[in-house]
Amino acid sequence: MRFETWSKGIATLEVDCLVVGVYDEGELSEEARAVDSACGGRLKKLLARGDFPGKPAETLLLADLPGLRATRVLLAGLGGKKSFGRKTWRKAWAAAVAALSRTGIESAAVALTRPDAKELDDYYFGRAVAEIAASGLYRINDLKSGKKPKAPRFARVLAGPVPKSAAAAVSRGLAHGAAIAEACKVQRDLANLPGNVCTPLFLAEEARALAKRYRSLRVRVLDEPAIRREKMGCLLAVSQGSAQPPRFLVIEHGGSGAAHPVVLVGKGVTFDTGGISLKDPPAMDEMKFDMSGAAAVIASLTLAAALDLPLRVVGLVAAVENMPDGKAVKPGDIATSASGQTVEILNTDAEGRLILCDALHYARRFQPAAVVDIATLTGACVVALGHHHSGAMGNDEELVAELVAAGVRADDRAWPLPVTEEYAEQLKSNFADFANIGGRDGGAITAAAFLGKFTQGLKWAHLDVAGTAYQGGAQKGSTGRPTPLLADFLIRRAGL
Ligand code: BES
Ligand code: MN
Ligand code: ZN
Repeated sequence: MRFETWSKGIATLEVDCLVVGVYDEGELSEEARAVDSACGGRLKKLLARGDFPGKPAETLLLADLPGLRATRVLLAGLGGKKSFGRKTWRKAWAAAVAALSRTGIESAAVALTRPDAKELDDYYFGRAVAEIAASGLYRINDLKSGKKPKAPRFARVLAGPVPKSAAAAVSRGLAHGAAIAEACKVQRDLANLPGNVCTPLFLAEEARALAKRYRSLRVRVLDEPAIRREKMGCLLAVSQGSAQPPRFLVIEHGGSGAAHPVVLVGKGVTFDTGGISLKDPPAMDEMKFDMSGAAAVIASLTLAAALDLPLRVVGLVAAVENMPDGKAVKPGDIATSASGQTVEILNTDAEGRLILCDALHYARRFQPAAVVDIATLTGACVVALGHHHSGAMGNDEELVAELVAAGVRADDRAWPLPVTEEYAEQLKSNFADFANIGGRDGGAITAAAFLGKFTQGLKWAHLDVAGTAYQGGAQKGSTGRPTPLLADFLIRRAGL
């Protein structure tokens, strides 16, 4: 998809379609008024008849209006003028993209009224235009055997109106937005694959393939013997019940020099049956998405490479499958983590924290400036926050706040949960240093408290994306979250 800006002369823009906004009860936006006067008042006439009430996310396609270079005009509802802002603008543009993708339109100019600069400045305006357009054209790479529907023709967007003085900021935003959408596609494509295709070995191969495409990336893959040499006993305890061997990926951007890197750690459980503590059947298929954190880490590294971020970033991915088996780990078994601390595995379904604790320990060798792990870690986080916010936790308030702020700017929000010392008491074990579960109460936090046992002395944050990384039901599929949040975090850290 190609992105450019436009500044004035809406009637003369050389695109197939102009996308203009209409408020509640058919009130024209400024750009719609310009179109209306160019075409001799046709829009006003149509709206006076009550044919388009301007409800949020409604669209209406008009063809061959006189006086315009564009052959089509797409009206998009902006809702009430008073409540108009960034949210309704996003909704309107997303609806317009969906409508455009169903037509033969190849190019369009966004001429929706722009939200207040305080809500969406030039840079984030450009970013949102590109991100929403490209993400809206995402299609699941399905394994259906029938004929594939034709790909949308829509491939070129002009964002505006952009005064000359703002063109550079908007263009930068457009480039970043396109890269973020591309990274989200990397995550979504991986996460949407079935567990029998997307195995730990597959993730390793994909990371290698991406490193070929993005020259700045270096990938190292630890196989089972290498993982054993790292003494990752907790990770191995999870994978021992699976016929799929584990893999541990190290993906580096920005060289392996002296700079203290940002280390991203991803939970890559390619399928989570729960193991011997087997899950209930309903919706168990969704546990193919249990590698979404790993996919987000891989995606974020491709983003760092695509934007050539002047920042050292290391991605660590712990990839395993969690299965019940004669050789599987059992409740009560004790494993020794890479840190030397022992863990009584009371519930084999609390496997994410077991692979992450060894991955987080591995992060120490990079002397990181910050460590952020991303994991579909707990159902309790979904109970606490639903599907709108990811859970943000950690041992460093500033880092957690930095991630929360990145999520606000990226429209990919996270909400902080408190990980104070008391919660760790729920992890007491009579037989090992601690247990891997802390009971039902505060489950998202006790999971984080467990990880906190392995991140002492590091600046560490944890994003629980169990409720945000994918959708169930009729819209089942990966959302690409929290890659936009991570992208904003990395772009800012890089000082861009
Ligand atoms: N992958 C799940 C968490 C999960 C649940 C993600 C629902 C997405 C939706 C994780 O491995 C798990 O099973 N967690 C357990 C922990 C419990 C046994 C302490 C859970 O949340 O039930
Ligand atoms: Mn589990
Ligand atoms: Zn899991």
